[in-house]
Amino acid sequence: MYIIDIKLHNFRNYRELSLSPARGVNVLIGSNAQGKTNLLEAVYLCATARSRRARSSGQMIAFGEERAFARVAVDNNGLTDRVSINLANGKKGVMVNGAAVAKLGDLFGALYAVLFAPEDLGLVKSGPAERRRFMDLELCQLSPVYYYDLSNYCKSLAQRNNLLRDARVRGRADDALGVWDDTLSDLGERIVKKRAEFAETLAETAARIHSRVTGGRESLRIVYRPSVRPGLFADALRENRSRDISRGMTCSGAHKDDLAFVINGRDARLYGSQGQQRTAALSVKLSEALIILEEKGVSPVLLLDDVFSELDESRREQLLDYTSGLQTFITAADASDVSRETAKSGARIYRVENGTISGAGPPGFF
Ligand SMILES: Nc1ncnc2c1ncn2[C@@H]1O[C@H](COP(=O)(O)OP(=O)(O)OP(=O)(O)O)[C@@H](O)[C@H]1O
Ligand SMILES: [Mg+2]
Repeated sequence: MYIIDIKLHNFRNYRELSLSPARGVNVLIGSNAQGKTNLLEAVYLCATARSRRARSSGQMIAFGEERAFARVAVDNNGLTDRVSINLANGKKGVMVNGAAVAKLGDLFGALYAVLFAPEDLGLVKSGPAERRRFMDLELCQLSPVYYYDLSNYCKSLAQRNNLLRDARVRGRADDALGVWDDTLSDLGERIVKKRAEFAETLAETAARIHSRVTGGRESLRIVYRPSVRPGLFADALRENRSRDISRGMTCSGAHKDDLAFVINGRDARLYGSQGQQRTAALSVKLSEALIILEEKGVSPVLLLDDVFSELDESRREQLLDYTSGLQTFITAADASDVSRETAKSGARIYRVENGTISGAGPPGFF
């Protein structure tokens, strides 16, 4: 799939934007704070109804304005899908092909996007919450059922935790706790099963990519570390009940899972160099794109924020190899980041300046 058209209105620093990107690689060049990341944010928002950095939808509305929208028209195997995200009054309205989408799960599929942003380094470097968030976002895009299971799991977890706190105060557990244990363990089992399958495919693909990008010098192993092993959810909740009551929270479950990244036999979080962590994170993102292609039969749109400045020439070449066949948006601060290889790939170059995008041309255009 590829985006035919992007329209923004009062989105961050874009007053009005209408852009028809190329089917292949689109390079967005501009100084700091001009709107490069904002454009990628808008596209990602249309794919997932989420932003990586906005805490509230209001933050994406241009300063001083009350409403904003981001719209994309997507070619999906010859059919056109239109996604519109309207932001107003602290709310986010999602429309697909003119119809309001009540459940976010129904949005996934109209546009698949994979975003690599500098903060994705956190995938390897930060704590487990970051890695769970990554797995969840990817799985939500791949499976609406996962999305519903996960939102129900979160709601059930909150209910169970309320009952645990009540039990702590009253000194005894309510009968309803058992009901929530059953719900939570059913959902937990389903989530863990999906995550395990996803992690296995991811591990295989990312290992291949990482090895190629590093010229065979490094091996990357990704290992899923569930907090409760499959099949043992109900037991774990029962066994840990008194501890959970005394802490007023559920101490084990899908909300405690982790993924380990191991490079050349050592935990990359503890021992990896900056460059190794970066390459691992990028390998994971490229794998994600390949997994979507494999599982959904459609090529996702690749959004690469500021990756050029982080990679040496040979890694850039390898990276561009992986973008072939995928519509790609790459931001760069400097025109010199746009290498000869990029030129060969037939990329279209845009200049981003103060919320405007101009000039579609080959490299060397500026
Ligand atoms: N709600 C908003 N309304 C208007 N402008 C905004 C809003 N939110 C952010 N901005 C502006 O957008 C600009 C940042 O844009 P963006 O993050 O896209 O920059 P960038 O081109 O990616 O820069 P860099 O190269 O530094 O990453 C900032 O000047 C910021 O003030
Ligand atoms: Mg930026």
